[in-house]
Amino acid sequence: MPKKTPSVSSWDEFGMNNLKSPIVETPCASSERFIILGIETSCDDTGVALVKNGEKILSNVVSSQIKIHSEYGGVVPELASRSHLENIYIVVDEALKQAKLLLKDIDGVAVTYGPGLVGSILIGIEAAKAIAYVHKKPLIGVNHLEGHIFSTLLEGRKPEFPFLSLIVSGGHTELVMVKGFGKYTIIGKTRDDAVGEAFDKVAKLLDLGYPGGPKVEKLAKISEKRIKFPEAVMKDGSFDFSFSGLKTAVLSCKNADKNIDSNDLCAGFQDAVIAALLNKTIAVAAKYKIKRVVLGGGVVANSTIRGEFIKRGKREGIEIFFPSMPLCTDNGAMIAVAGYFKFLKKEYSGYVLNADPGLSL
Ligand code: KG4
Ligand code: ZN
Repeated sequence: MPKKTPSVSSWDEFGMNNLKSPIVETPCASSERFIILGIETSCDDTGVALVKNGEKILSNVVSSQIKIHSEYGGVVPELASRSHLENIYIVVDEALKQAKLLLKDIDGVAVTYGPGLVGSILIGIEAAKAIAYVHKKPLIGVNHLEGHIFSTLLEGRKPEFPFLSLIVSGGHTELVMVKGFGKYTIIGKTRDDAVGEAFDKVAKLLDLGYPGGPKVEKLAKISEKRIKFPEAVMKDGSFDFSFSGLKTAVLSCKNADKNIDSNDLCAGFQDAVIAALLNKTIAVAAKYKIKRVVLGGGVVANSTIRGEFIKRGKREGIEIFFPSMPLCTDNGAMIAVAGYFKFLKKEYSGYVLNADPGLSL
């Protein structure tokens, strides 16, 4: 039986001022297979992927800008958007080549529309619009955070709803109750720095380079005399986090003793971060009687964090889910997965889709 690819009934209806797409066919017969092109450009990675049925990665290409930004010790927004512009179609072509597909073979185009850097997001959105328009495919705007929440689905282990999601990245630290696709309640978040941002800032003050997370983790592993810092949490009974005080504590320690070992500072910092993340997450899970915790975001690439969550999860009888390391940091596959579920619900975006740098869940 031929596949019921959703098609645009009349292109004129899909006009610039039309928020709701006029695509009419229902795409969600369960036996069918759909391929979504996912585009992610919210920060400094140009990511494009092709994902089948929201679970099988056909290709996942990420062009990193680390070399460009490392000499500045952090992402320079203007350079990031220029680099996305230079690379986006090269990355799209490479993803198609690796998947052995053409744009006419895809069923929808999913793209991050926030949160993130406005100039960077716009490059992805405009590329997605052009592809969707030329090839008459539905355009699906995706919240970057939904990508991180559902990236674990690409590993074949599917947590049942409801689950608690801990998103820890360069821009976010959020504890989110996920009751279904699109059904989110934010339980806790950072009041200042995001976890990844704190890793990057500590790395910068220790002259370790950018991005800081992997460098801090590496030094922490070889520490012989880890320093004890206080746990990075709000002590007001809320489930919020605060990491800026911890970063200042690392700086004060360094200033007080110029010969202090960076390995020990990194280990102490990382221990305090892990204690905060673990204790708050487990406390929320206990309060809401949740037995599944899903981790997502670049900081989950940290093997010590992954290990500590697995250990504690076993002790508490909580199942811990997380994506493999390349799927923790920003990539197009996670956007294709989140986009796939919106595609099934026909939650298409019109061509007025715009960047929303402060988008929340
Ligand atoms: O999710 P992501 O790629 O981008 C954002 O959405 O922000 O996360 C990037 C962040 C950076 O702050 C980076 O330092 C951090 O993830 N990160 C790590 C590790 N690898 C990347 N943090 C701690 N340990 C790591 N191994
Ligand atoms: Zn991210």
